Amino acid sequence: MSTRRFDPAGPLRGSLRPPADKSISHRAALIAAMGEGVTPIRGYLDAADTRSTLGAVEAVGARVEGAAPGAIGSELRIHGVGLRGAGPATIDVGNAGTLLRLMPGWLAGQEGESWTLDGDDSIRRRPVDRIAAPLREMGADLRAREDRLPPLEIRGASLHGIAYELPVASAQVKSCVLLAGLLAAGETRVLEPVPSRDHTERMLAAAGAEVGREAAAGLGARAGAGVVSVGPAARLEPGEIVVPADISSAAFFVVAALLVEGSDVVLERVGVNPTRTGLLTILERMGAAIEVEPRGERGGEPIADLRLRSAALRATEVGGAEVPLAIDELPLVALAACFAEGETTIRDAAELRRKESDRIETVTAALRALGAEVEPTPDGMVVAGTGGLRGGAISSHGDHRIAMLGAVAGLASAEGVEVEGMEAAAVSYPGFEADLASLVG
Ligand code: S3P
Repeated sequence: MSTRRFDPAGPLRGSLRPPADKSISHRAALIAAMGEGVTPIRGYLDAADTRSTLGAVEAVGARVEGAAPGAIGSELRIHGVGLRGAGPATIDVGNAGTLLRLMPGWLAGQEGESWTLDGDDSIRRRPVDRIAAPLREMGADLRAREDRLPPLEIRGASLHGIAYELPVASAQVKSCVLLAGLLAAGETRVLEPVPSRDHTERMLAAAGAEVGREAAAGLGARAGAGVVSVGPAARLEPGEIVVPADISSAAFFVVAALLVEGSDVVLERVGVNPTRTGLLTILERMGAAIEVEPRGERGGEPIADLRLRSAALRATEVGGAEVPLAIDELPLVALAACFAEGETTIRDAAELRRKESDRIETVTAALRALGAEVEPTPDGMVVAGTGGLRGGAISSHGDHRIAMLGAVAGLASAEGVEVEGMEAAAVSYPGFEADLASLVG
C-alpha cells in the first residue's frame, strides 16, 4: 500500500484536460461488444475499472484492438459479437460496480449460455439484488450469494419486457434493465423517480435502438420523474464512439481551485451532460464563480471548458433530486463545506453507503481525522464549516474517490494530509498525482 503526503501548496494555475469519462467508457466498451462489426472508440479511459470492462468483453468473445487507450487522440477498436453472440465465461469485474450492474442486463437474455461475475473484496460487498429483481421479473435466471451479493451467476433465458419503477434513482439499474430490454419481447419501460445519468440512453439511441423518454404522468408522479422505454433490437450499430473528459475526475480540481487561495484553473473539454453537473450547481450556490464555456458536443454529449477561481464559500443544503446529479461528488461537497461559513446538510444520500466504500462513514471519518466538525446521519452528513482544515492522516479504504479527496484536502489544509492507500486512485484516474502537481507548478 502506498502512503503519500500532500502538503499545503498552491495556488493552482494553468489548464488541464482531465481523463476520459469512466461511466461513458464502460458503456462504450459494452455497447461496442453488443454491436455488429468494428466500433472505433476515441479517447477510451485507461484506468483499472475500464480495463476490467475490456477484459470482460474479451472474455465473452469480443476482440479489442488498440495500443494506447486513454492517450489523447488514441483509438480502440472493438470487434463486436452482436446482441446474442456472447460466449460463456467467468468474468472478473475487478472493482467496477458499473460493469457488475450493466453487463448482466446484456447477458441475461441470451438463451443456452451461462456466466459468472465476480470481483475484488469491495465488489463482494456491493448489492446485486437491485438488478436481480427487475431481471427476474423479465424472466431471467440469476443466482447470487445470499441472494444479494457477488458472485453472480447468470443463465441466459427468454425475456419479456416489463414496466419497472426504480426503488432508488440508480443509473446502473436503469441501464441494466434497458440493455435487457433490447433482447426482450415487447417494450421495456423504466420509471425513474428523479433523473439520473442518461449516457446509456444516448448511446443506445445513437446505435439505432428505439429509446424514448417521457415525463411520468398520473397521480403521485414527482416533478422530474420520467419513463425511459426501449424496444427489442435486431442489431446495434454504434458507429464511432467519442468519450469526453470526466466531470467526476475534473471535480477534484474544481474543488481544489476553489479552496486554495489565488487559484485560477481551466479544465478543458469536460463532459457537462446536465445529469452529471450537480456539483457545479451546488458550488455556485455556495458562492463559487464557475465559468462554463460551451465547446459543442462530443459523441452526443455536451462538453465545455470550466474556469475556476478561488472563492469564499457559504454553507448549503443538498438533497432530493440534486443527489443523483452529484452522487459521486458528494464527498467533495462535504470537503468544501468544511471551508464554508455555516452548517451544510447533505440528505437523501443513503446510496453513498453502497459505493466503493460506505462513503458516509469513510468521508466523515476522514474529515474528522483532519480536524473537521462533521456528523454522519443515516442518509448523509452535517458539516459545521470552520473556514479551514487542520490536516492529519487518513486511509483511502481502497476507495479511489476518498484517496483523491485526501490529496485535495492536503493542499488546502494548514498542516498537510497523509493518505494511506493512495494507489486506489488508479481505479478511475492513474495520472491524478502528476496532473495535480502540474497545476500546483
Ligand atoms: C454510475 C452510476 C452511479 C455512480 C457510479 C457510476 C454509472 O451509480 O455512483 O459511480 O456509470 O451508471 P448508481 O447508478 O448505482 O447510483
